[in-house]
Amino acid sequence: MYQAEHGYNLVKLFRAEFELCKLKPGDTAAIMSSASVPGLPGPWSYRKDYVDAAFQAFEELGVAAFHIELPPIPKPILPILDGQSAVGKNVTAGMGGTALAGLRPAMSALKQVNFVLDLAMTLFSPELAEMVGANAKVLIVCEPPEPCARLFPSEDLKRRLLNAKRRMDKGKTRKFSVTSEAGTDITIEIGQYSAAIECGYADDAGRWDAFPSGQAFCFANDGSGDGVFVLNKGDQVVLPYMRYIEEPVTLVVKEGYIREIKGGADAQLIRDHLESWHDPEVYALGHQSLGLHPNARWDASAVYGWDSLGMDARIFYGCYLLGTGPNTLGGGKRNTPCHFDIPMRNCSAVIDGEVILDKGRVVPDDLRVQGR
Ligand SMILES: [Fe+2]
Repeated sequence: MYQAEHGYNLVKLFRAEFELCKLKPGDTAAIMSSASVPGLPGPWSYRKDYVDAAFQAFEELGVAAFHIELPPIPKPILPILDGQSAVGKNVTAGMGGTALAGLRPAMSALKQVNFVLDLAMTLFSPELAEMVGANAKVLIVCEPPEPCARLFPSEDLKRRLLNAKRRMDKGKTRKFSVTSEAGTDITIEIGQYSAAIECGYADDAGRWDAFPSGQAFCFANDGSGDGVFVLNKGDQVVLPYMRYIEEPVTLVVKEGYIREIKGGADAQLIRDHLESWHDPEVYALGHQSLGLHPNARWDASAVYGWDSLGMDARIFYGCYLLGTGPNTLGGGKRNTPCHFDIPMRNCSAVIDGEVILDKGRVVPDDLRVQGR
């Protein structure tokens, strides 16, 4: 285990991570960062010590590297209304907007390296797709050192996630059903869009990943998804706000869109937040994820609060995560600014008759960690 061996030595942390990314002498790398934006929570401010440690790790590995510091730009996580439309529709939950959009010289430099260390969080941006399209390995890092060390990835994690992805991938229509004792009972058709993994390291040219991570995800077919999700006490709204559900919330889904939101204060929060964007597409089902990281913890957000972006909660072992809104990461066209990440515990999930999760327990042998 990385953490037990090295604690939080950042140079060793990045060196071990870059070795997993299969960087080799003669490779080139760019570190990309952007200063924090006033008003957004802590982790949006990148750590300058990450830049220093990454430079040293690159040097030790014989990788030539440079650093691009982008100017800060606003990344609204709450809507700014201009008449009836939300300004900033090009961003998603505070992500997606990058200063790279107006900086073609920086983009052309980033497209010429083997590896981009992204401390500027380009997730959901067209520029991320462009870097990946130029065959770079892109690694997004936006968590503090402790989760990075504790959730340090492994090749076994990637293997198990790829096995999950295979069951959800594009090409064949499959029925994905989710139930729970709390009352969730929904069936979604999948297979129209590409599934994907985030395994915690980027070792394939032309692919991005996030460090740390540990989830496989897919997207509902257009117009598909009928039933209810019942968010239970202890489930969590990670995005757009870090809060555990305290009163059950029922989301009634029809033809792929949330049509009714019932419950107490938590339901009111979700309902009012979704309404505030004045965009019917925010009600659509987004990515549906399975978490397979054995060290990740659902209770981590109670410890970290906004000192973390909540990766633990998205990827804990046996997690089913309901995402809403955009499906561009799967190759879809729905690009909407509001995005919820709602990890749920104790769900059962079945894909085309195969039990994947049984009340939060991972069932198929090729997805399981030994002994769990
Ligand atoms: Fe998400």
